[in-house]
Amino acid sequence: MKRIIQVGVGGMGREWTDVVAASSAWAGVAYVDTNEANLIAAAARHGMPRDRCFTDYREAIAVVEAEALLDVTPQRFRRQVCAEAFRRGLHVLCEKPLAPTVKDAKDLVARAKQAKRTLMVAQNYRYQPVTQTIKRFIEKGRLGDVGYVEIRFHKGPHFGGYREEMPYPLILDMSIHHVDMLRGVLGTDIASVQAASVGAPWSWYKGDATVMAQWRCENGATANYCASWVSGGWETTWNADWRFDGSKGALMLEGEQVFFSDKPGSRRAVPLVKFEPAHQAWLLEAFARALTANTEPETSGRDNLNSLAATHAMVRAAKERRWVTVRELLA
Ligand SMILES: NC(=O)c1ccc[n+]([C@@H]2O[C@H](COP(=O)([O-])OP(=O)(O)OC[C@H]3O[C@@H](n4cnc5c(N)ncnc54)[C@H](O)[C@@H]3O)[C@@H](O)[C@H]2O)c1
Repeated sequence: MKRIIQVGVGGMGREWTDVVAASSAWAGVAYVDTNEANLIAAAARHGMPRDRCFTDYREAIAVVEAEALLDVTPQRFRRQVCAEAFRRGLHVLCEKPLAPTVKDAKDLVARAKQAKRTLMVAQNYRYQPVTQTIKRFIEKGRLGDVGYVEIRFHKGPHFGGYREEMPYPLILDMSIHHVDMLRGVLGTDIASVQAASVGAPWSWYKGDATVMAQWRCENGATANYCASWVSGGWETTWNADWRFDGSKGALMLEGEQVFFSDKPGSRRAVPLVKFEPAHQAWLLEAFARALTANTEPETSGRDNLNSLAATHAMVRAAKERRWVTVRELLA
């Protein structure tokens, strides 16, 4: 078993402790959290000894032997935590977003390369039955050439904490999942974006939490993205509802179901492919496989730069009211 130090055992971190504990490839060998209540709760849940629980990640990395570090802190801590891991020779699996700025993300990718360590980003939305069903349907040519895509995402979560204070919380914390899903299923990068950012009058976030954007892909397809975290009504799933229009018909994701339609007035359900394990459990196994085979994971830090830059391009596009190329952000 490979050994992994987990930094951040708060909201999402708690879920990760369960996934690591259930893994046959990984042993969780230390927990780190600056919030002692969260640290104690995680240790109690999984029987982590007291001398393997730390409030300082530098101390944990220095004291505990491990092959890798799992970073589940909020993005503003990512650079310092991951840079220390690379400095000490650890591979890193980190939560999305890879960094709060594209500059920091590029810096981390460069540090991983220099240290000859693997950096993988937890883009779990790619790795679930509905996404894989859509990806395979399109790959087999059953939709023909994809011309345009519609994505609708509506939720009204009251997270409390940092998301309610940060600028553009939806775009800079959530939308990377949807950008990355599109890249994953179409197998293409985002080339340019335009966006209008909306602060709804009743919003409980300091920053705008609604966006209406268009993304142009390198393969010519264009997506229309309408997403909100301040919806007070009927919600979509976290995946959002999607419609892909191709030369042979339309493929739709609604809730947990996928439909195909090749004529107006009729559609049929597409059986979901088996995809197990999914989400974080899949990522953890893929991370182990990449280390063993010394190969680059599909959602490596390097690959992730396009997804991250596309989200920051949306912010720039909204501010400057123009189409922004992802290349500008990565320059
Ligand atoms: N992939 C997904 O589906 C998904 C879902 C939710 C959150 N996330 C991501 O997970 C990350 C964490 O989000 P969250 O909701 O768990 O946040 P959170 O605030 O609930 O938890 C973060 C934890 O990290 C700890 N922490 C902060 N700085 C630290 C440091 N320097 N050293 C050690 N511990 C530190 C905090 O005390 C807290 O316990 C974010 O990047 C978020 O975007 C991903």
